[in-house]
Amino acid sequence: MSLLLEGKKGIIFGALDENSIAWKVAEKCAAHGAQIVLTNAPVALRMGAINDLAAKLGTEIIPADATSVEDLENLLSRSMEIFGGKVDFILHSIGMSLNVRKKKEYTDLNYEWMLKTFDISAVSFHKLMQSAMKLDAMQEWGSILALSYIAAQRTFPDYSEMAESKALLESFARSFGYHWAKKAKVRVNTISQSPTMTTAGSGVKGFSDFFGYANKMSPLGNASADACADYCVTMFSDLTRMVTMQNLYHDGGFSSMGMAPEILE
Ligand SMILES: NC(=O)c1ccc[n+]([C@@H]2O[C@H](COP(=O)([O-])OP(=O)(O)OC[C@H]3O[C@@H](n4cnc5c(N)ncnc54)[C@H](O)[C@@H]3O)[C@@H](O)[C@H]2O)c1
Repeated sequence: MSLLLEGKKGIIFGALDENSIAWKVAEKCAAHGAQIVLTNAPVALRMGAINDLAAKLGTEIIPADATSVEDLENLLSRSMEIFGGKVDFILHSIGMSLNVRKKKEYTDLNYEWMLKTFDISAVSFHKLMQSAMKLDAMQEWGSILALSYIAAQRTFPDYSEMAESKALLESFARSFGYHWAKKAKVRVNTISQSPTMTTAGSGVKGFSDFFGYANKMSPLGNASADACADYCVTMFSDLTRMVTMQNLYHDGGFSSMGMAPEILE
């Protein structure tokens, strides 16, 4: 296998346990020759299994609450020290809805929680990119990715306020993508992933039924976390240097389907 990320250095947010999409991405990036730093919220470091991943990959973990600019600046500065230079790629793999977690219906949202949801799931992406720009942390022709979901474009009632979070996240990728391209030819994209059995995914009501529905609607079936990690590796590699400001569907064809006979069987 040729190593697509040989010599590249990247920061990966959001590996909580071995089901996390970010966990698979970290493993594949390392397998492709990248040097990585892992990060997650301090509470996730206590509850999750990220230490096992770091030990396995021989990487460092730098705690950062993605809503804290101070934490993000510290993360970027420390990472550059560890790497001995700038960062080639970043994965933002963060999502959390307070209203979903606390079972508040979409027609009865708590607005303080909603704003916190937006901060964690979307504004953090802007904060990350702005901090990286101020610190001049990205290598020329680098790649920044965030993970999204098709509820940004279409209505999936149980996804609640995460739909607006993802719409905002994708918009930040387009808007900041312009500035990053002009500053250092860095590309910024979102990957819109199939439903995936993870902690964040299975927090959505009726997730396992919906997972089966999406699997039937997608002619290739649902894309796994492993396949998503492969796609992330290509997006971090030099093979995709002219792709920017895009929302890229990685969903087995779900987003182009109107009707699937399999659903009626
Ligand atoms: N699972 C799915 O069905 C699915 C589908 C499409 C997109 N996504 C997106 O993929 C991304 C990763 O989610 P996942 O499915 O791997 O679930 P996950 O629960 O494994 O990962 C979510 C991560 O967000 C982290 N996080 C939460 N609050 C944070 C904060 N304040 N600061 C830093 N990190 C914080 C958590 O600790 C966790 O590691 C999310 O953006 C999610 O919305 C998931």
